[in-house]
Amino acid sequence: MSGSRAEFRVRVRPGVLPAGLRVLEQAGFEPELGDLDLEGVDALLCLLTDQIDECVLDSGDRLRLVANMAVGTDNIDLAACARRGIAVSNTPGVLTDATADLAFALLLAAARRVVWGDRLVRGAGFTGWHPELGIGADVTGRTLGIVGPGRIGEAVAERAQGFRMRVLRCGRREAAGRVGLSELLEQADFVSLHVPLSEETQHLIGEPELRRMPRHAVLVNTARGPVIDERALVRALREGWIGAAGLDVFEREPRLAPGLAALTNVVLLPHLGSATVETRNRMAEIAARNVVCALRGEPILNPVGAVPSRGFAR
Ligand code: DGY
Repeated sequence: MSGSRAEFRVRVRPGVLPAGLRVLEQAGFEPELGDLDLEGVDALLCLLTDQIDECVLDSGDRLRLVANMAVGTDNIDLAACARRGIAVSNTPGVLTDATADLAFALLLAAARRVVWGDRLVRGAGFTGWHPELGIGADVTGRTLGIVGPGRIGEAVAERAQGFRMRVLRCGRREAAGRVGLSELLEQADFVSLHVPLSEETQHLIGEPELRRMPRHAVLVNTARGPVIDERALVRALREGWIGAAGLDVFEREPRLAPGLAALTNVVLLPHLGSATVETRNRMAEIAARNVVCALRGEPILNPVGAVPSRGFAR
């Protein structure tokens, strides 16, 4: 590094956990909490709720790195960063297990009507055991379809082994049980989505796909909301094209499609996939380590897309 670390300005968005700030401070940087006016800022540590678009990037006259505290980078205009020679990093790996756990929690909750039952008991509606009360669907031994069998999708498949499930996969890579999307939707009792959001995956699951699924099928989404056409899903759940859904993400987050919240066959969570103490701390640390590497002129640890060829250290 040619200059002192204090010469570099690192903007950190409010909400980034102290674990990330500590990494920066221990490396000799003085992180400044602030907004997305990036004039004079060398590196930005941001959240998935920050839209890093042309307008934000235009304010960053010295910006060298956008470090997202998330594995998904659909909040960042990657092409615009590439045009400006700005690198982008994310936090893969550390949230795999936490997100897979939550996907499975949603699958079980939706199949076994866990939230419905909780509300019944709290609302004093439980008047005694009855053979037909709260009947859900078996999970053990059924077929699970993983759409996007990457790290998180495979971790969900791993959990499914404990339930002796047959696993189908739909994705780019060769894999055991790989089938096309239509076949997966027609055969799976449970479908779990794990694709990143892109032009290709936006509304991957719309009316035609929902109509292909068995009437008892359960759809789980811990990826990104816009992968599902949420209005079509409301109709599917209301009219019984599918049995139930478990959603951790929403098309226009944090808003819900009209009618979704009124349905009892859907479990709704506020984007909790990676929400464990350990995981969120690790995400903040990794995002911060990418900043440190970039400003020291070292290769960043988790680059997204092509890394600009010019060095970062000044
Ligand atoms: C991510 O990292 O992209 C997740 O959505 C956060 O939980």
